[in-house]
Amino acid sequence: MTTSPGRFLTFEGIEGVGKSTQIARLATALGARGIDVLVTREPGGTPLAESIRALVLQPREETLPPIAELLLMFAARAAHWHATIEPALAAGRDVVCDRFIDSSFAYQVWGKGIAEDKLQVLQTLAIGDAVPDLTLLFDLDPELGLARARDRGDENRFEQESQAFRQRVRAGFLARAEAEPTRVRVIDAERDTETVSAAIIELLEALPAAPASSAP
Ligand code: TYD
Repeated sequence: MTTSPGRFLTFEGIEGVGKSTQIARLATALGARGIDVLVTREPGGTPLAESIRALVLQPREETLPPIAELLLMFAARAAHWHATIEPALAAGRDVVCDRFIDSSFAYQVWGKGIAEDKLQVLQTLAIGDAVPDLTLLFDLDPELGLARARDRGDENRFEQESQAFRQRVRAGFLARAEAEPTRVRVIDAERDTETVSAAIIELLEALPAAPASSAP
C-alpha cells in the first residue's frame, strides 16, 4: 500500500500578525484529530538552515545586499525542503511551515526590489516546482503588527525596517493572493484569536485531499 502524501500548509504575513499563536493552535487541533503533523519554520527547520537564520537575522554593521539575503534564504530553503519537508510529506505527515516562498516574494522582491525572475530561477533550483497546498496569509495593518511585535520584545534586523518597507511587503503578499487566489487565502488578522482559529479550520476542511502522487 502506498502512503498518500501529507498536506503542505504555510503561514505568511508581516511581523506581529499572530502566526505563531495560530500555528500552535492548529498543530494542537490536528493532533487531537489523530493527524501526524510536523511544525517547522523558515528561515530554518534544519540545523544548517537554523545557522543560516541566525546569520541573516543578526543585526550587524555591514549592509547585506538584497541578493545575498535572497541567496541565503534559498540556501536555507533548499536544505529545509530536501532534508525535512519533502520526506515528511512523503511519509504522509502534514507539514505546517511558518513562512516559505511567499516571504521571499514579499520581502525580497516587493520589499527590497529584487527582480521577480531572479527569485523564480532560484526557486526552481532550490525546490523545483514544489508549492504549498494551502497558504494562509495573515493580513494586518503594519502599524498594528509592529506594535504587537514590540510588545513581545521581538527585535531583529527586519523589525528595524521602515513602515514604508512593511507597507510594500504587505502589498507584495496581497499581490500574491490576488495572483493565486486558490492557494493563498487571506485571513483578516485583526480579529480575535478564536475567530481566526475557526476560520483556519474551515479553510482546511475545504482543502481537497492531496492527489495521489503520479509517476514522473
Ligand atoms: P521572524 O522573527 O521569524 O519573523 P516572524 O516571527 O514575523 O515570522 O523573522 C523572520 C524574518 O525573515 C522576517 O522578518 C521575514 C524574513 N524573511 C525574508 O525576508 N525572506 C524569506 O524568504 C523568509 C522565509 C523570511
